[in-house]
Amino acid sequence: GLTNTKEMFAKANKEGYAVPAFNFNNMEMAMAIVEACAEMGSPVILQCSKGALKYMGADVAPLLAKAAVDRARNMGSDIPVALHLDHGPDLETVKTCIEAGFSSVMIDGSHYDFAKNIQVSKEVVDYAHQFDVSVEAELGVLAGIEDDVKAESHTYTNPDEVEEFVTKTGVDSLAIAIGTSHGAHKFKPGEDPKLRLDILKEIERRIPGFPIVLHGSSAVPKQYTDMIKQYGGEVKDAIGIPDSELRKAASSAVAKINVDTDGRLAFTAAIRRVLGTSPKEFDPRKYLGAAKEEMKAYYKTKIVDVFGSEGA
Ligand code: G3H
Ligand code: 13P
Ligand code: NA
Ligand code: ZN
Repeated sequence: GLTNTKEMFAKANKEGYAVPAFNFNNMEMAMAIVEACAEMGSPVILQCSKGALKYMGADVAPLLAKAAVDRARNMGSDIPVALHLDHGPDLETVKTCIEAGFSSVMIDGSHYDFAKNIQVSKEVVDYAHQFDVSVEAELGVLAGIEDDVKAESHTYTNPDEVEEFVTKTGVDSLAIAIGTSHGAHKFKPGEDPKLRLDILKEIERRIPGFPIVLHGSSAVPKQYTDMIKQYGGEVKDAIGIPDSELRKAASSAVAKINVDTDGRLAFTAAIRRVLGTSPKEFDPRKYLGAAKEEMKAYYKTKIVDVFGSEGA
C-alpha cells in the first residue's frame, strides 16, 4: 500500500539523495510517474494539489495512487510510494485528504506570520500524526504562482527561525525558500539561476539531519518550450533551476524536491507534436499516450541527473 514519507526521508538523507515529488492530475501522469520511478528503482511521492484534487475528485485521486502502487508491483518493483497533499491550505482540506487515504500532507502556512504559521502547522501535525500521516510545512516565501496565490517577491527562509519552528510544530519535513520559485518563469534568459546554498548550509547546521524540501525546482527544458512553440503554442523565454544546483542540494539534507512544471511542459509539448504532425488524429490514446511516454522519459533522466535516487 501507500507509505508515509518518514522512512523515505531518513534513508535519502543517510545515503545522500532526494526523493522525487512529482505532481499528477490524471491517470496518464500518475502512470508516467510511477513507471519512471519503478524502472529506475526510485522511491516516489505522488503529489496532488488542492486544484488537482478538485479536478480528479477526492474519490478518484487516491484510487490512481493505489493503482500506481499496483503498477509498480506488477512491474516487479518494491519501491515505496506516498500520496501527498501539495500546498494544503488548511486543516479542513487535510482532513478530507486523510479520510480519502493520503499518506502524507503539506500545510502551507508560509504566507502567515511566524506565530500563526507555527499554530496552523502544529494543529495539522497533531491531527495527522494520529493516523501516521507525515506532515510537511513551509517557512519562507517563494516567488511565483502557488494555486491562485501569486507572490510577487520572495523572502528567503531565515535560519534563525528553523529550530524553533520544527520543535514547536513537530513537523516531519520543512520546505524552505532559497531561490527556487513556482511555474515556468523563474529566471529570464541571461540571468544566473543560482540557489542560496549558503542559506541551506546554515539551516542544516541549525537542524542537523532534518529533512528539507525544495519546491519550485523545475528546469524548464528548452527542448519542450521549443517544441511547444514549434507546434503553435506560446511560452515566454525563461530558464529554470539547473540540474547541477539541485544535485548539490539533493546530496545534502534536502530529502524531497518538487517538480510539476517540467512534467506539464513535456506532456503538453508531446500533445502538440502529435496533433501538429497528425492533424487527422482524434484518438485520445494517441496524443495522451505520447504525452505519458514523454513525461516518463523526462522523469527517468531527471532521477539520474538531479535526485540520485535510482536503485535506492
Ligand atoms: O506548487 C503548485 C503546483 O505546481 C500545483 O499547481 O495548483 O495548478 O495544481 P496547481
Ligand atoms: P515547479 O513549478 O517548479 O515544477 O514546482 C512545483 C512545486 O513546487 C509543487 O509544489
Ligand atoms: Na538528501
Ligand atoms: Zn510548491
